[in-house]
Amino acid sequence: MLGPALLAASRSPRVRTLVSTSPVSRRLVDRFVAGEAPTDALAAVRALTERGLSVTIDHLGEDTTERSQAEATRDAYTALLAKLSAEGLAAGAEVSLKLSALGQALPHEGGRLALDNARAICAAADGAGTTVTLDMEDHTTVDSTLSILAALRGDFPWVGAVVQSALFRTEADVRDLAHPGSRVRLVKGAYREPRTVAHARKPEVDAAYRRCLAVLFAEGAYPMVASHDQTMIDEANRLAAQHGRSTDDYELQMLYGIRTAEQDRQVAEGRRVRVYLPYGQDWYGYFMRRLAERPANVGFFLRGLVAR
Ligand code: FDA
Repeated sequence: MLGPALLAASRSPRVRTLVSTSPVSRRLVDRFVAGEAPTDALAAVRALTERGLSVTIDHLGEDTTERSQAEATRDAYTALLAKLSAEGLAAGAEVSLKLSALGQALPHEGGRLALDNARAICAAADGAGTTVTLDMEDHTTVDSTLSILAALRGDFPWVGAVVQSALFRTEADVRDLAHPGSRVRLVKGAYREPRTVAHARKPEVDAAYRRCLAVLFAEGAYPMVASHDQTMIDEANRLAAQHGRSTDDYELQMLYGIRTAEQDRQVAEGRRVRVYLPYGQDWYGYFMRRLAERPANVGFFLRGLVAR
């Protein structure tokens, strides 16, 4: 029952202040977030790639309501991409973007602004020799995100999509996106959604995930299988073998700090594994979603607060 409460808290400014000022939450944040500065992200990329992992970097931030903030996020990404290139790290590290951090929710001009900002980041990624994937946020943003994706793919066909098996609409979206060459990251979904648009129970989300996986592997897309669930990881590897896919034809993805032994095990077995690496000062919403996903994380967090 704590999960929905934490997801609600992830949007609460009051709880945000409480969590941000607790030294204890800082320690737990460090488990999931690489640090606040670009140099922290680059050091983490170096350490992960030395372990044979690939990386996708998220400059933390979401729900921007000011144009200047959206442009600052764009500039943070382009500067990061320049550094990745200069330090020879771009081959193993791409970036993930939240369109809400690039201005998507601004009234009137939001979609246009997010598209322009994302386009500038894609051009920088192209110059650095790497790729971009668009994160998916709550269900109200899906149409806008998919239309921005389509516009970006006109110039940069390698831009990756994210789809969430929790949403009813996703199986149809996956069929549209599953063509050869299309990079599609399949996740279960981290947002609290109304029952009118999303599966309410975990077994339904899991069953939808399996159906989407089957379509992605069968139709020739490049599946990015983003899950820590062993059943889904095993199913992806089984589908890859069934469809004669080499280890270059799909990848497994996990979040920084979660199931690191499994990340290493899959690499040791010769598979491509990409770690989603968040960094930046605006870690709160991301952190609360990670707490909400797992009761053990919440227990650890609450014990720390009591001991404070
Ligand atoms: P599930 O929740 O069933 O967990 C399976 C097992 O994994 C658990 O039993 C536990 O062992 C471990 N585990 C999972 N979460 C954990 C945690 N927080 N702490 C410790 N252990 C944990 N969502 C979204 O809505 N939009 C997006 O753009 C993205 N992007 C994204 C990228 C990548 C690379 C990943 C891996 C995930 C996302 N997500 C996301 C998050 C995703 O939707 C989902 O919330 C989490 O991945 C948890 O779901 P699992 O598939 O891991 O399965």
